[in-house]
Amino acid sequence: MKPLIVANWKMNPSSQKEAEDIFEGIKNGISGTSAEVVVCPPFVFLAELKGLTLGAQNVYSEEKGAFTGEISGAMLKDLGVEYVLIGHSERRKYFNETDESVNKKIKKALESGLKVIFCIGETAQERNEGKKEEVLERQLKQGLKNIELAGVRHPLTSGCLTPASNIKDVNIAYEPVWAISSGDPYKTKELPTTEKVKEISFFIRNLLAKIYNQETAEKIRIIYGGSANSENAQGYLKDAGMQGLLVGGASLSAEEFIKIIKSAE
Ligand code: PGA
Repeated sequence: MKPLIVANWKMNPSSQKEAEDIFEGIKNGISGTSAEVVVCPPFVFLAELKGLTLGAQNVYSEEKGAFTGEISGAMLKDLGVEYVLIGHSERRKYFNETDESVNKKIKKALESGLKVIFCIGETAQERNEGKKEEVLERQLKQGLKNIELAGVRHPLTSGCLTPASNIKDVNIAYEPVWAISSGDPYKTKELPTTEKVKEISFFIRNLLAKIYNQETAEKIRIIYGGSANSENAQGYLKDAGMQGLLVGGASLSAEEFIKIIKSAE
C-alpha cells in the first residue's frame, strides 16, 4: 500500500501566481517519489494546476441544479480531479456539516467516481469528557452508512445503495481537532504522541472490520492529520504506522512539503 501524502491548502494562497509557484515547487522536488501525493487547492485554482494528482476540499451531495455556490462531483471529475476531502472538522464547525450531510457527500462523490479522504476526529472537549472513542465510532459508522465497499455491505444499509466502490476509493484521515494548526504547524501547543495515534489507528481499523470485515478493513488507508510537519512526519508514519498524512499549514511551503513526502518514501 503506497503512503498517501495530501496537501490541504485550505483558503490559501491568495493568488493564482502563488498557487502555481508552490505547486511547481512541489512538482519539481518530488519526481520519482514512491508516495502517492495529492494536492487540494481551493476550487478556483484547480483548472490551472497540472502535473500532480489533484484533490478538492469539498463537494456537494447533488449532481446538478439549483444549488447556488456549490460544486458537483461531475464538475470536479471533468477537471481531472481525483480525490476529495469530506468531513473536515473546519467544515463541520464553520459550515454546519453533520454526519448525515457528510454521508450524503461521500455517497455522491463515490458515485461520481471520485476517491474520498473521509476526515474524522474528536474535539478537545469531547476528548476531555472521555468521549473520543464514542465520537469516532459515530462519525465513522454514520459517515459510511449505506456505502458498500469491495462488495461488502454496511450493516446500516437500507434503501438505495451506492454502487460497490473500489476499496482504494476510500481513505480515512484521523485528525484530532485539538491538534490542527491555525496555519503554523510548529506553533500548535499539543500534539498526540505516536503511541496514541497508533492506538487510535488500531481502534479505527477494528471499527472498520466490524462495519465491513477484516479483509476489507486491512485495505483501507488510515492517515494522520494535525500539525504534521517535516520534524514529526517520520514519527507518525514509521512509529505510529500511519499510511499517510493530511498536511495543512506545512503544505504551503514547497520545501517543507517535499521533506514530508521524502520521509514517507
Ligand atoms: P494542519 O492542518 O496541518 O495545519 O494542522 C491539517 C488539516 O486541517 O487538514
